[in-house]
Amino acid sequence: MKILINQVLEVLNKNIEKTFNIEIDSNDIQNSTKKEFGDFQSNFAMKNAKALGDNPRNIANKLIENFDGEDIIEKIELAGPGFLNIFVKDSILNEDIKKMTKENIEYNIDSSKIVAIDYSSPNIAKRMHVGHLRSTIIGDALKKIYQELGFKVYGDNHIGDWGTQFGKLIVAYNKWLDREKYEKDPIGELERLYVLFGTEAKKDPSLDDLAREELRKVQIGDEVNFALWKEFITYSMKEYNKVYDRLGIKFELINGESFYNEMMPDVLEDITKKGIAKLDDGALVVFFDENESNLPPCIVRKKDGSFLYSTSDLATVRYRKRDLGVGIGIYVVDERQTGHFKQVFEISRLMGGDYDYDKIHTAFGIMRFGDGAIFSSRGGNVIHLIDLLDEAKSEVLKVIEEKNPELTKEEKEEIAEVVGVGAIKYFDLSQNRTSPIMFTWDKVLAFEGNTGPYFQYTYVRIQSLKRKAKEMGIELNENIDVLTKNSIASERELVATMLKYPSAVIKAYETNKPNVIADYIYDLAKQFNSYYNNEKILANEDKEQILNKLALCDKVGEVLKKGLSLLGINTVDKM
Ligand code: ARG
Repeated sequence: MKILINQVLEVLNKNIEKTFNIEIDSNDIQNSTKKEFGDFQSNFAMKNAKALGDNPRNIANKLIENFDGEDIIEKIELAGPGFLNIFVKDSILNEDIKKMTKENIEYNIDSSKIVAIDYSSPNIAKRMHVGHLRSTIIGDALKKIYQELGFKVYGDNHIGDWGTQFGKLIVAYNKWLDREKYEKDPIGELERLYVLFGTEAKKDPSLDDLAREELRKVQIGDEVNFALWKEFITYSMKEYNKVYDRLGIKFELINGESFYNEMMPDVLEDITKKGIAKLDDGALVVFFDENESNLPPCIVRKKDGSFLYSTSDLATVRYRKRDLGVGIGIYVVDERQTGHFKQVFEISRLMGGDYDYDKIHTAFGIMRFGDGAIFSSRGGNVIHLIDLLDEAKSEVLKVIEEKNPELTKEEKEEIAEVVGVGAIKYFDLSQNRTSPIMFTWDKVLAFEGNTGPYFQYTYVRIQSLKRKAKEMGIELNENIDVLTKNSIASERELVATMLKYPSAVIKAYETNKPNVIADYIYDLAKQFNSYYNNEKILANEDKEQILNKLALCDKVGEVLKKGLSLLGINTVDKM
């Protein structure tokens, strides 16, 4: 279906062309900020006053005089210095809302570029930290938003599976491994070994030489060390997959840093040929002196010949365009890496060719923990993510036991999982991505306010309304008009809000901020709940009216579900 705002725009433009004898191929119209201003507003008259040689109010009046709203626009009014307030017909609202929950939405966005979303990306042999959790949740939502708009998207988990830590780990593994612990909690044991190596190497610096030697053996493909390195990856991925499974996260690609290893010499050759790097005390360095970016120098090859994080990211940049055809690269990585990405993007721009395409670092703020939310025993922001999910689930379970004890044990478990995981995701996604956030269980699990459980509860309300209707012998008819001559203002407003869903998706895409969708569904849910609290939907003399209202409620449920699904959040029918 064509989205309503675009249908209105077409009619408006036809009228403009007819009245002023000019050709228009696009024009500004916006969702109205207040309902008195109609459904949409346009500042066409003001913007074109000069070109048309008249004052805006006259222009607007001329347009209104001859206006043909077709089947779409009910009326158009002049406001203030020359604004146009546009009111759409109820019949088009009825038609569009039926289509919106059934057909694909034509967003009219150019989605021809292939997108790579780089997210999650934990470092092997280390537990994911909260930054990785945020990246995972935000990245997955962005992926779904781009896909909804018709983009082909590669979700790419750029795991940190290469680097000097592996030499150290192998030394420690050979010397101090506790096999039993390793089998039970592989990442926990690898973390312990890594820390232990640090303390031991302080006492005995020869361990560092040993680590370098073990690392070199990995790099040249020594059978034993290579197998160990692979094992660290497999064991770590198994742990990460537990988190991904709980969160319902899937990746199209898992191309870690090591994947780019053999491409790095080529990249350095490209950089050298391009003449943007200089040798500086044996290291190869890109200086940004003659460049407006004012960035600090970026080393791309160390004195000892080894590569860096930036080198591997440059190889990644090139691979994604050259081999995958990517035209938009999105990096969902916490704000502490802003400097790194600025350097990588600027070097890519200077390089041109396979390095040059749209790249966005969708940085996000740090999440802090308050009111007893789990910390690891070692402090910092390293929490055990699985524990966080378990805790959310068990808290929700308590509420369900209380509210709905007659559900079966399996039902309760299933609901608690969906609602608990959804609560954590929603908490993250409802925040403006760029601000720091404080995690408190209160804010995550409340059933009132802008929280995951509030939406679950709203959705369930609608489903139980449908069940109740059925018990009364009233079967939902999805194809009935939701608005009739009997409809009240709040019903029309609900429909108008639902039809703004596509605008929210587009804005979320334009800003790369999933919280735009969260804000939208929060508005819709609030509106719905106040309607629901004021209107007796099933207690109506007129059975026809019950059907209209029931269909309206059902559509609200559908739009909520759609919005939540873009945030990677599932819904339940009962709770
Ligand atoms: N592994 C990195 C870290 O945990 C994040 C990688 C982000 N992606 C990238 N292409 N650099 O800090």
